[in-house]
Amino acid sequence: MAGNPKTPRLWRDVILFDGLDTRPEPMAVIVTGERISHVLPMAELDDGLADGCEEMGHGGVITPGLVDCHTHLVFGGSRADEFEQRLEGVSYEEIARRGGGILSTVQATRAASEDELFDAARPRLEALMADGVTSVEIKSGYGLSVADELKMLRVARRLGEALPVRVVTTLLGAHALPPEFKDDSDAYIELVCREMIPAAAEQGLADAVDVFCETIAFSVAQCERVFAAAEAHGLPVKAHAEQLSNLGGSAMAARHGALSADHVEYLDEAGVAALREAGSVAVLLPGAFHTLRETRLPPIAALREAGVPMAVATDANPGSSPIFNPTLMLNFACTLFRLTPREALAGMTAQGARALGLREQGGGGPGRIAAGAPADLCWWDIESPAALAYAVQPGRLRQRIFNGEVTHDTAHA
Ligand code: NIG
Ligand code: FE
Repeated sequence: MAGNPKTPRLWRDVILFDGLDTRPEPMAVIVTGERISHVLPMAELDDGLADGCEEMGHGGVITPGLVDCHTHLVFGGSRADEFEQRLEGVSYEEIARRGGGILSTVQATRAASEDELFDAARPRLEALMADGVTSVEIKSGYGLSVADELKMLRVARRLGEALPVRVVTTLLGAHALPPEFKDDSDAYIELVCREMIPAAAEQGLADAVDVFCETIAFSVAQCERVFAAAEAHGLPVKAHAEQLSNLGGSAMAARHGALSADHVEYLDEAGVAALREAGSVAVLLPGAFHTLRETRLPPIAALREAGVPMAVATDANPGSSPIFNPTLMLNFACTLFRLTPREALAGMTAQGARALGLREQGGGGPGRIAAGAPADLCWWDIESPAALAYAVQPGRLRQRIFNGEVTHDTAHA
């Protein structure tokens, strides 16, 4: 390996979840520099290979580093007051119509400086990382002006530079209608298409473009205009769709080759078929379902039967999912949505990476454990991969390895 002085590091006798499946026998994993160099059954690990390695540990479970493919981690303020209103029976939609909800976070986010937003988001991101996240998507969407959306995206980029984690940024200009465009949502969509997307693309601040396709947000036709602008700037698209009603946003997103359709509680058969044909991922967000006490379940059986890849994410945000605990979402995905533990874990590893477009990168992207992939790994103190979804129990992460570096280590603390 040209110029790489690092000794290979070996984890032996581990139970390995490779991103899609659990290997049937005890495994060895070797990391050389920033990449996984060997993944092999213990029976095939010969002394010559093992002797050249630094031994990191044995036993437990190794999974890919977790991929949280849908978050709104950068925001100002808090919405604890709305939590209380909802407990008293006021609905999420009603709060939004009264000018609260997303718009109250917009006010606080606009008022915050870039440094203030960074300082507020950092501990949220650190909480995800302490629970195993090595790749995370962060959306804008609480700025809703060109300057404030770019400000949010710069904060997201800075978080990725300051901390050992892969940050993928998404421009969500079409999240809500800002007050200055009240009664003229088409004019706001024009601003998103003509100014926001071009500026974000030009400054390299956005890796993708998202929309909120919903009665309380934007119509299918408006979202389609946003997608056309994104495509003109070479940016992949995705949608918050079928969360509170069925407008057909997921099918429209699929027609645009969307990376994913997210939430999808109200997705119908035609929507499932459209996602399957496009190869788009259905991103399941059980934290929002739980927080909003929704009752309509996403069509899991139909998605499974159609072979639509299902990802699981936190949707960490101040309103519908103030949850910064990805392994809890594995549990919720199973208990609330009836995913199997294997599906849930694949949803937060291989399928999460796919939803971010990371799978297509040469040499295998994150989210999988295979020779050549980046060494983003979690080593857990559990008896089986399913235990991660089964028990709600902090403190099980022995080591977190990002890009070959051990960044959290309780095994040798
Ligand atoms: O993914 N659905 C819309 N957007 C966010 C909620 C944002 C908020 O309430 O602040 C979501 O649930
Ligand atoms: Fe969201």
